Order: sequence, then C-alpha cells, then structure tokens
Amino acid sequence: MQIRVLTADDVRTALPMDKAIEAVRLAFGQFSSKNATVPLRTRIQTEKGVTLLMPAHLHHSGDFAVKIVSVYESNPKLDLPTVTATVIVLDPDTGMPLAFMDGDSLTALRTGAAGGLAADLLARKEAETATLFGAGVQARSQLIAVMAVRNIKQVNLVDPVFEAAEKLAREIESHPLAPEINIIQDPEAAVKEADIIMAATTTKTPLFNGDHLKPGAHVTGVGSYTPEMQEIDKNTVNRSKVVVDSRESCLAEAGDIILSNAEIYAEIGEIVNGDKPGRQSEDEVTFFKSVGLAAQDAAAAAMVVKEAEKKDLGKVIGMS
Ligand SMILES: NC(=O)c1ccc[n+]([C@@H]2O[C@H](COP(=O)([O-])OP(=O)(O)OC[C@H]3O[C@@H](n4cnc5c(N)ncnc54)[C@H](O)[C@@H]3O)[C@@H](O)[C@H]2O)c1
Repeated sequence: MQIRVLTADDVRTALPMDKAIEAVRLAFGQFSSKNATVPLRTRIQTEKGVTLLMPAHLHHSGDFAVKIVSVYESNPKLDLPTVTATVIVLDPDTGMPLAFMDGDSLTALRTGAAGGLAADLLARKEAETATLFGAGVQARSQLIAVMAVRNIKQVNLVDPVFEAAEKLAREIESHPLAPEINIIQDPEAAVKEADIIMAATTTKTPLFNGDHLKPGAHVTGVGSYTPEMQEIDKNTVNRSKVVVDSRESCLAEAGDIILSNAEIYAEIGEIVNGDKPGRQSEDEVTFFKSVGLAAQDAAAAAMVVKEAEKKDLGKVIGMS
C-alpha cells in the first residue's frame, strides 16, 4: 500500500480555483440529488479540546474522503494553531487510503469555490464591482474565486483590522487579474454600488443594512455558523432569492437563515442540476448562504489527488 502526502503548498498547486469550482459544482449536484452519503459529523471531546470527523462519499464521481478538524484552545501555548484540519482520501473501489493532505488549504479552496460557483450561477454577468467583508483566510479565497468567474474591476474591502486589509490588498496586487482595491470603513458606502458582496468574517452581528443594496446585487455569506450568529441582516434576506448549500444544515446552524425566518428558494445543487433556475431578472437580489459540507471536501480532495498524480506533487510513502 502507498499513500501520497500533500502539504498546503502541494494542495494549492494541485488545485487552481477554476478546478476547485468545477469540483464543488459536481459535489453540490450530487448532494442535492441525494447521490451522496454524508453522515452527521462525529464529535469527540477530549480533555484539551474537540475533534470532529467529517466523512463523505459521492456516488457518481466516487469521491471518498474524511476530514478531521481539531479545535484545541490551549495549542497556542505550544506554538501550535488552535484549529487544524487534515484530510484522508480513500479509494472507493478498495476502501484503501490514497492520500493524506493539509486540510486548512483545502477548506479555504473549497469554501472560496462555493462562493465562486454561487456568483457564477447568481450574479449578473456584467458584475464588475465587489465588496469584501473580512480580510482573513476565507475572504482571500472568496475574492480569488469571484475573480475567476466575473471580470471584477474594483473591490471595496472592509475589515476593522486595517493591517489585515492592507496585507490582503498588497497580496491581490500581484494577481494577474488584479482589480483596484479600496479599503473602506463605512459599510453603507461599501455596499451601495456593489454588484457582488462577499462576507467572510467572524462577526456575530450583521455587517450592513440590506436596504442599502442596489437592485440586482448578489450576496454570499460564509461566516456565521451557529443559530445565534448573524452576519447578513434580515433586510438583505427578506429582499433576496435565498439559496443555500444545504437546507438541513442551514436551518440547523445558520443564524442568517434562522433569525430572519428566511424562505429558502433552493439548494445550490438544485440550480446546478437544472431543477430550479438561478437568477431570473436583472433586478433581483440574490443571497447564497454556505455553512460548508463534507461533500465539498471529498470532491475537492479527490480532485487534488488526481492533479497531484499528474503533476507528481507531494511524497509517496510505502506503508507495507
Ligand atoms: N462556510 C464554510 O464552509 C466555512 C469554512 C471555513 C470557515 N468558515 C467561517 O468563515 C469565517 C471566517 O473565517 P477565517 O478563517 O477567514 O477567519 P479569520 O480569522 O482568518 O478572518 C476573519 C476576519 O474577519 C474580520 N472581521 C471580524 N468582524 C468584522 C466586521 N464586522 N467587518 C469586517 N470584517 C470583520 C476579522 O478582522 C478578520 O480579519 C469564520 O466564521 C469561519 O468559521 C466558513
């Protein structure tokens, strides 16, 4: 038995954003047509922290993986990150492990890719102005993904930590499709002319008032993940066509959906599968809420393995 070990850099090299978007498109399609086995995550509480096991198998593509996420608050004292993630990819024909890879880079890629797919299906084709709330790991990935599906010329960047916003702005400058980036403090000014608004923050309270959105805007929110957290306000939700990654998960976990008593129009996989149309008019406001699915991890990780084999990335280790 042999296993390929892939670092964060290997994962990023293996999976450019356009390929990540393709992987999550297939994942959401299979998830919404009930062609995915995605058991509830298993939570193991230890003395020092909690570890979550998140398996998924996609029936048509055969993608099969388990993500392991650990949250250990005392890790920084040991000079280790609080949250760590790794992924094991399995061969669907033999059940044997094929690869072991960094899960943080994979999570950022597949979460960005979900936002990119949503913008592709829901934002107006000519969208060119974007607003990004947050300048952390997920925000970077959301922006790169939206730049992969729309010709973004200008970005308003909002983050209370000015240094974080500056750092992200400098990084994006070196991108071949770099838009103009303006760091803005006022949320209302940031959203009122934007075609696409991305929220990837740790806030517990709404980032902006949805009354200020212009007709035809598209909003993606990936941040809030408990029933009490609300990144996107009720006014946005009430005037939007609301699309989610998973009805069940969003109704259980996403304060954006729960606190606004949102009427969910579709899962994104239903739009991928052609069961429901995406955007239907130039003026409608659309909102995509993601809490993140293990099906996305399985599809993205399996794609990483295929590309890593082609490009000979990582280290292959014999186990027997
Ligand atoms: N939906 C998914 O699949 C998925 C996957 C991974 C992470 N997440 C979630 O995404 C969120 C962001 O994760 P991250 O890893 O990028 O975190 P991070 O800590 O790297 O970055 C968060 C950023 O949000 C900024 N922020 C906080 N309040 C803000 C506000 N009011 N306005 C603007 N910016 C604000 C912070 O200053 C920080 O720069 C978290 O809530 C995380 O749990 C979702």
